[in-house]
Amino acid sequence: METVACDIRDFSLADAGKKRIDWAEREMPVLRLIRQRFEKEKPLAGQRVVACLHVTTETANLLKTLKAGGAEVAVCASNPLSTQDDVAASLVVHEGIQAFCIKGEDHDTYYRHIHQALDLKPTLTMDDGADTVGIVHSERRELIPDIIGGTEETTTGVIRLRAMAKDGVLAYPIVAVNDADTKHFFDNRYGTGQSTIDGILRATNILIAGRTVVVAGYGWCGKGVAMRARGMGARVIVTEVAPTKALEALMDGFEVMPMAKAAPIGDLFITVTGCKHVIRKEHFEAMKDGAIVCNSGHFNVELDLDGLESLANSKEEARPFVDQFRLPSGKSVFVLGEGRLINLAAAEGHPASVMDMSFANQALCAEWMAKNASTLEKGVYSVPKEIDEQVASLKLQSQGVEIDVLTPEQQKYLTSWQEGT
Ligand code: ADE
Repeated sequence: METVACDIRDFSLADAGKKRIDWAEREMPVLRLIRQRFEKEKPLAGQRVVACLHVTTETANLLKTLKAGGAEVAVCASNPLSTQDDVAASLVVHEGIQAFCIKGEDHDTYYRHIHQALDLKPTLTMDDGADTVGIVHSERRELIPDIIGGTEETTTGVIRLRAMAKDGVLAYPIVAVNDADTKHFFDNRYGTGQSTIDGILRATNILIAGRTVVVAGYGWCGKGVAMRARGMGARVIVTEVAPTKALEALMDGFEVMPMAKAAPIGDLFITVTGCKHVIRKEHFEAMKDGAIVCNSGHFNVELDLDGLESLANSKEEARPFVDQFRLPSGKSVFVLGEGRLINLAAAEGHPASVMDMSFANQALCAEWMAKNASTLEKGVYSVPKEIDEQVASLKLQSQGVEIDVLTPEQQKYLTSWQEGT
């Protein structure tokens, strides 16, 4: 067997990982079609892709697609807790893909793994949270001349990249995959909505019905979480800082109030804001005894856990992924998954059917970048409309759903201004 550079937990998990990757593939018809075309056309021949993504069964199917397209691929984790160790083993053993990721790796190992993946000397970077872009632009600048472009999966990463572009420091073009309609309408809303509840239930096995659930943030992810919590019988309160989103939450039928007012009322708190310290010391102190707190935003900064630790008399694991903090008042607050994204820490992330569209966009944008990079400026690019629409059409086809087409008369009507009342 050819030796593949890697740092993973256990090679013996490879066969179990392969079975789960194959299971996910059944739910990823769009990516499968793209892979079949890539196998013939090899649009990524000569490219070296460093992917910093959650290493899940769905990601494995994306990486296999990139390899089928002719790319050499190395993967590292985009979160220390999200790696599925069996998947990492299967990528190395069965697919010949370099993998540097171990579930539960510490801070130093997490960054060492990004560096090890970057040793592939990428021509393309693929991020979920912009961590490779960050390292390339700070500690590994010698890699920049070889990099033709990149892609970014998530809202938080796109915010960072736009800030870099605004400051004139972004050194190559990057496609914001998150901004495709076929990404955020579905992955952020239905994916986060379902997988967040899934992570909470796997960690705690609580009944949602009858509980008061506080959802911080009403972006696409918050909408999904609030909708699913309500669907399971919770009373849902939304907290927001943006007036329009707050109004939308109100008109969608949720209660809206500041966190200071929600803190003493909530039974379960879920942050999905992309912002820092949304739940702070004063909120933890005001919570009911037994309140459960978790985060489903990209970074673990949404909960001020240092603040909570400084308040607490003790901290102990109540069960896997559940830490009990005892406060001087005698009350306890339970934090799930160390404040990291609960859907990937305690569950398996979004279901394959929704990642099918996100990762179809990733694969097609990598192809687009390989074709077009020489004509692009440094900066953040939207997913081309044709790619977004192609992904939606293929997904509908895969579900056997047909839609109408405009008649010539309708087309004319929609592009003219003469017809009135
Ligand atoms: N982000 C959220 N869910 C995911 C999954 N299943 N795979 C990869 N990235 C994800």
